[in-house]
Amino acid sequence: MDSIILAIESSCDDTSAAVIRNGHILSNVTATQAVHTAYGGVVPELASRAHQSNIIPIVSEALIRANIHKSALNAVAFTQGPGLLGALLVGTSFAKAMAIGLGIPLITVNHMQAHILAHFIEEPRPEFPFLCLTVSGGHTEIVLVKSAMEMDVIGRTQDDAAGEAFDKTAKLLGLPYPGGPQIDQHARTGDANAYRFPGTDMPGLDFSFSGIKTAFMYFLRKAEKEDPGFITRNMADICASIQHTIIGMLMKKLMQAASETGIKNIGIAGGVSANSGLRETLIVTAGQHNWNVFIPDFEYCTDNAAMIAMAAHYKYLANDFSDLSVSPKPRMAI
Ligand code: KG4
Ligand code: ZN
Repeated sequence: MDSIILAIESSCDDTSAAVIRNGHILSNVTATQAVHTAYGGVVPELASRAHQSNIIPIVSEALIRANIHKSALNAVAFTQGPGLLGALLVGTSFAKAMAIGLGIPLITVNHMQAHILAHFIEEPRPEFPFLCLTVSGGHTEIVLVKSAMEMDVIGRTQDDAAGEAFDKTAKLLGLPYPGGPQIDQHARTGDANAYRFPGTDMPGLDFSFSGIKTAFMYFLRKAEKEDPGFITRNMADICASIQHTIIGMLMKKLMQAASETGIKNIGIAGGVSANSGLRETLIVTAGQHNWNVFIPDFEYCTDNAAMIAMAAHYKYLANDFSDLSVSPKPRMAI
């Protein structure tokens, strides 16, 4: 029998809906909220309001593009967490209302697990076990993925996430939010070895990105004071150098994790996995270490409901449904 699931993502500043049939994505529609750009970061209350106005048109569009009538749905899934409480509440309430109205089961999805399961949307799909460097605006983790539902976090950041490091350094450079794609863009024409920044080395497989942000801030202040206009004139080299440093910190721990576990199936997931420097470095490193690498399509790296739908598909197969009393979990662990 067919399983047709509608999935909703509303954890941060993207309102997204997707339809999946028997594990194949039929549609994936996302509205990115431009309202936050003026504030240099996501404003939680504005995010909730934008989700409220986006959610009906986005869900309708996802159903139309999938050519699925809502009466054909077998389940409705939503991101339960982690994320912003008010933003999550919009998706949660909407999914619950659809489940009641249509008399279909409800499926809760962990956003970070879903980022990892984005690898199963398209070929080639990784074999288990695999290691996944999960790098987003709120998380930086090395995850040992044993199956679609069994995941162990074996390394994590002790302070800022990698995406935050990109966004905060971009802000110091006067670049608009979100800064990650901006740094990526400028870095393409810059010299990655023009400047060196000291990255903090943490014990084991953990990360720390707060030190580099501070070192970067002092470097820019001093350079700009001694040589006004330094930032504008050297934007490409500065971006290439900071990006190179962040990637180096990520790759060091990923290589350590691969050597400690002996696992050669390696994936990346989350918004920062859209970074062209990280993608290239991963491919080069894979060649040197005989890894099989898995890099999701750009569309499935940053927040999207297709990955929520993929995670929901596995939960549907496992009969893992939730009752209507579930609430959002802003700080949900993998
Ligand atoms: O996964 P995501 O879309 O949302 C969260 O779950 O946080 O990740 C957003 C993060 C932001 O910090 C953004 O700057 C970063 O991913 N990002 C990038 C790139 N595209 C998005 N960072 C570096 N290079 C990129 N190309
Ligand atoms: Zn995300």
